[in-house]
Amino acid sequence: MDRDRFAGLATGFGAARVVVLGDLMLDRYVAGPADRVSPEAPVPVVRVDREWDAVGGAANVAANVRALGAGCDVVGVLGRDAPGGVVEEALEGLGAGCRCVRDGSRATTVKTRVLARGQQVVRIDREDPAPVPASVAELLAARIDAVLPGADALVVADYDKGALTPPLIRHVLAAAAAGSVPVVVDPKRRNFFAYGGGTVFKPNRAELEAAFGEAALPGDGCWLEAARVRAGCEHLLLTLGAAGMVLASPGRSPRRVAARARSVYDVSGAGDTVAAVVAVALAAGARLAEAVEAAAVAAAAGVAKVGVATVSPQEIAAGLTGRTPDAAGPDAEVAEASNPAPGIRNST
Ligand SMILES: Nc1ncnc2c1ncn2[C@@H]1O[C@H](COP(=O)(O)OP(=O)(O)OP(=O)(O)O)[C@@H](O)[C@H]1O
Ligand SMILES: [Mg+2]
Repeated sequence: MDRDRFAGLATGFGAARVVVLGDLMLDRYVAGPADRVSPEAPVPVVRVDREWDAVGGAANVAANVRALGAGCDVVGVLGRDAPGGVVEEALEGLGAGCRCVRDGSRATTVKTRVLARGQQVVRIDREDPAPVPASVAELLAARIDAVLPGADALVVADYDKGALTPPLIRHVLAAAAAGSVPVVVDPKRRNFFAYGGGTVFKPNRAELEAAFGEAALPGDGCWLEAARVRAGCEHLLLTLGAAGMVLASPGRSPRRVAARARSVYDVSGAGDTVAAVVAVALAAGARLAEAVEAAAVAAAAGVAKVGVATVSPQEIAAGLTGRTPDAAGPDAEVAEASNPAPGIRNST
């Protein structure tokens, strides 16, 4: 895809509306110097001089959607606790419509990272990953029904934290199909096989291997096609970390998309960026190969930043090479095979 084509697509991002449904989280950071060892236990003592919050999970997908300029409605469940309020306010601050159910019987998922001189020393998770009760799932379904008409794409971001239950997933996929809304699914273990009928199913390698109980063979077209059929989705977009991603679609050879990163500082959140860019690009009328190429370029820009990052349309445009992949034939790679530069630095 050349820059002009992307620029044309990006002019449609502002009018595109994406619904994000999934597990909302709060990422909390506590940081400071650690100059001494605790007298109580052989652990460093971190003297806190900085604390900040960031949205995580499905809320980070929403942040990525908003960074691209698209409209976004978010549906998920939050506790009736202080972190739930922080997530709600943060989503509103991003300009996303927060259609969240506040459930007093569960804790908002919070991941607290303690950083000593920039290095993570411990992570403390507070969560209640049990599936939501049927009453809450029904409220979530009703909120989806309220925002899905008129939406141009739906992302389901499942982190196994309980917001997605099989009946809710069935309801949402049926509603999206009835409205011809493309669905991008970022699955985890528990509901992996519940997303049949999704448009783009985007597991990473570890998620797919855990669900299938076998090693992934992303270089083998027959295996990929069987995996696509087994997941029951229209397209399988398997992300492979530093090895990029591979797109399997019915009736054509798989297309390999190289990771385009030149420098790698922090890979966390790269999957969220991919899901958001694919959804926004499809919502704006991109072909899937174009959406995936834009996502690979965006992921490269994201992993070059410190921390969980979002990427702007300008950054995607800057990362495009100007080559039009489909000019090279239908089974050509959708992105140029540019390997990360030697001496890559990966801080995670
Ligand atoms: N180390 C890396 N070097 C270059 N590109 C990377 C690297 N890690 C991720 N990427 C890019 O980001 C995309 C998504 O990454 P990955 O396969 O790790 O997804 P993920 O595990 O779902 O990410 P996360 O869960 O951390 O958000 C990859 O397909 C690739 O384009
Ligand atoms: Mg992921």
